[in-house]
Amino acid sequence: MGSAVSDARSSPAPARLLVEAHGLTFGYGREPILRDVDLRVHQGEFVALVGPNGSGKSTLLRLLLGRLRPWSGTVELFGRPPWALRERGALGYVPQRPTLTSEVPATVEEIVATGRIPVGRWWRRLGPADREAVRHALESVDLLELARRPINELSGGQQQRVFIARALAGEPQLLVLDEPVAGVDAASQQRFRDALVHAIAHHGTGVLLVSHELSAVAHDLDRIVVLKGTVQFDGPAARLASAGVSLGVHAEDLPQWLEGLR
Ligand SMILES: Nc1ncnc2c1ncn2[C@@H]1O[C@H](COP(=O)(O)OP(=O)(O)O)[C@@H](O)[C@H]1O
Ligand SMILES: [Mg+2]
Repeated sequence: MGSAVSDARSSPAPARLLVEAHGLTFGYGREPILRDVDLRVHQGEFVALVGPNGSGKSTLLRLLLGRLRPWSGTVELFGRPPWALRERGALGYVPQRPTLTSEVPATVEEIVATGRIPVGRWWRRLGPADREAVRHALESVDLLELARRPINELSGGQQQRVFIARALAGEPQLLVLDEPVAGVDAASQQRFRDALVHAIAHHGTGVLLVSHELSAVAHDLDRIVVLKGTVQFDGPAARLASAGVSLGVHAEDLPQWLEGLR
């Protein structure tokens, strides 16, 4: 119906590319760990990155976020080289083993609340919307009960969940999570899944999730990227089924299949 103009208006705008890597090659020593890796995450997209231990997943994240420089290839984060990132609130990144950078005995709640404060605006007072976002983030990682505890009294796994809550509270454009739910129970995984789906639906967040436990999010993922030095697969979960791997239905399939890639 209608003219070419109205057709153009009715077709949805292409989603913005949040991160785009092309032809990345990198190693820590003389041998490359990653070879010729391409990866894209768009606004509102939910992408899982999987691969056997030592396959280079954490290394790839560090390259995408400008913590490491590739030997060759290019990375753009929000359309710029990642080391030129200005709006730091646009990115929520939780590394596999986050470390406390300060000895100040801040509480869990105070740390999560810093996710609401854009860099350089530390003086801004938190309003009701901020407090609600902090509460929601704490709830989604099962930390409401520990909200008033000093973070340095928590276990390493609990501290990681505090950093995940801080990233969620900031409602970033891109959320990058490195093995955030290792070993947590099914109910907690479901709550965490709900938080990611909320961020995607309400804030257009793009999510790049490294995890071996994908059964809770199997039906929400747009794409799965399988990495083992190079990208072995990049596509929807349904297409993995043709390789004998079906997420969710047989939650054990993926780890077994990855094991076979070793
Ligand atoms: N800082 C480092 N220095 C040297 N080698 C490293 C470093 N970090 C990781 N590696 C090596 O790079 C390879 C890929 O590691 P990593 O990216 O952590 O894999 P994954 O996250 O998939 O388990 C492994 O062989 C690991 O031992
Ligand atoms: Mg890793």
